Amino acid sequence: MSVRINDLELLEAVREFALTHFHADVERFRQSMQDWGNEWKAVAPTQLLAADFLHDSINAGNHQTRPLLEVFARHKQRLHWEQSYRKQDAVVSEAMLSAYAFAEVIGNRGPFISDRIRAGIAIWGPNIEYPRHQHRAEEIYIVLAGSARFKIGDADEVNHSVGDSIFVASNTPHEFRTGDQTFVVYYLWQSGDLREISSFV
Ligand SMILES: [Fe+2]
Repeated sequence: MSVRINDLELLEAVREFALTHFHADVERFRQSMQDWGNEWKAVAPTQLLAADFLHDSINAGNHQTRPLLEVFARHKQRLHWEQSYRKQDAVVSEAMLSAYAFAEVIGNRGPFISDRIRAGIAIWGPNIEYPRHQHRAEEIYIVLAGSARFKIGDADEVNHSVGDSIFVASNTPHEFRTGDQTFVVYYLWQSGDLREISSFV
C-alpha cells in the first residue's frame, strides 16, 4: 500500500521542525531523525477530547511553532490520539486523563516505523499536573503553545513557554504543571524502549 499523502505531510512537518530547530539538545536527536527508516503502515484514527483544544492553541504559537500546530490541527480527525496511562494508574489524576492526549507520527507503532526514535505532539489542558515520573529513554519537549512549570531532577522549578526546549536525560525524574492555557509540545524520545510506561517516583 502506498504511503498516504496526508501522512507524508505530517512526516515532513515533524522532520522539518526537528531539523530546523537549532538547539544543542535537539542536535542529540538529529541523527536518529535522519535515519528513521522508510517503513510506513496505516494507523487507525482515534479521537480524544484533548485533541479538540488544538485548534484554539494555534494562535498561542509563535512564527516557528504555528505551522506545525496548523498541520496537526488540519489532520486532527485522521490522527491516532492516545494516552499512555489508564484510570487504574491511580497516580495520574482523572483531571489529567480527561484533558491529555498525544499523537505519534514516527515510532515503533507507526505510521512511520522506527525503533530508534519517536516523534509527535502531546496536549494537556490548563492547570493539569503531570506527576513526577521517569523512563530510560531520553526525551525532549519543545513547547508549541502555552506554558508549564517544570521540575527536572534536583533543579529548581522553571517556567517554560513557546519555543523553549526542555531536555530530560535518561532515568531523570521530571514533572510539570500546565499554566492557564492549553499546553502543546512537540516531543522526541530515543535510546530506550520507545513504548516504556514511565515509572512514578
Ligand atoms: Fe517524560
